[in-house]
Amino acid sequence: MKKDFISILDINEEELEGILDEAVRLKALRAQGIPHEILKGKNLAMIFEKSSTRTHISFEVGMNDLGGHALFLNTRDLQIGRGENIRDTARVASRYVSALMIRANRHSTIEEFARNATIPVINGLSDLEHPCQILADIMTIKEHFGSLAGLRVAWVGDGNNVCNSLILASALTGMEISIACPKGYSPSKKILRQAKEIGGIIRSIRSPYDAVRDADVIVTDTWISMGDEGERVERLKAFKGYTVDEALLGHASEDVRVLHCLPAHTGEEISNGVIEGEQSLVWDEVENRLHAQKALLIKLLKKE
Ligand code: CP
Ligand code: NVA
Repeated sequence: MKKDFISILDINEEELEGILDEAVRLKALRAQGIPHEILKGKNLAMIFEKSSTRTHISFEVGMNDLGGHALFLNTRDLQIGRGENIRDTARVASRYVSALMIRANRHSTIEEFARNATIPVINGLSDLEHPCQILADIMTIKEHFGSLAGLRVAWVGDGNNVCNSLILASALTGMEISIACPKGYSPSKKILRQAKEIGGIIRSIRSPYDAVRDADVIVTDTWISMGDEGERVERLKAFKGYTVDEALLGHASEDVRVLHCLPAHTGEEISNGVIEGEQSLVWDEVENRLHAQKALLIKLLKKE
């Protein structure tokens, strides 16, 4: 296992399987109220440059469940907000805490933290990837379908950070992925290249109807990610026709299931009916953030 978890490709298929198995075990322990204080005495610093509900709560509660402690740190309140450099901040944090989770505007910020920290650094979302989200998504898909290899995933909407991590995870687990994005909103070329290098089967198509036709899982996310707010008008225009709604689901199998990392903007990328409907796995997906991240923390912090 590498020191850091910045990209979903920082773990291999075997490590991913181990994390998922551990997450399932932890989920059962928690449901039965059985204590599992595996990380007693460990501290996680969580640095946020952007807003968060799920990532903040799930990491903080996760550390607490494991007998450790999490510190919420906003860059506006840290000296980094007044110009202290990342190098020194990373070295300082390494003397106090056992791991660092960072949500940053730029992926390179997290990489710079990782280069200078002697402790594990976890990507809590960047402009390029959202690997912790995708751990939970993969866990949710496996929980529902029983296995991953050979499943067909359809991404409908913006080729953003969540989409990039899903493409890589699909390649890692043997799932085929069809991506339907409007022109100009395709996923990162570098990510597509990386996924193909490890044998990923990726179909890029414009039509959401074609993408979902034989899909087992449909995944979507906001059309306006944090930082894209200034492009709202043009984005709403570009993404017209890409809503995951009842009409789109009518073109997919009855057994198809829908994921969305949240926050959702109902009436934009997804309809309220779909998110609340029987084909939605969204609320299990939310919960699985907690279990998957606890398993990740154990893997990073409890080296044999
Ligand atoms: N899905 C997700 O990462 O949510 P938050 O932005 O609320 O953390
Ligand atoms: N793509 C979204 C994900 C939010 C969890 C964003 O970056 O804002």
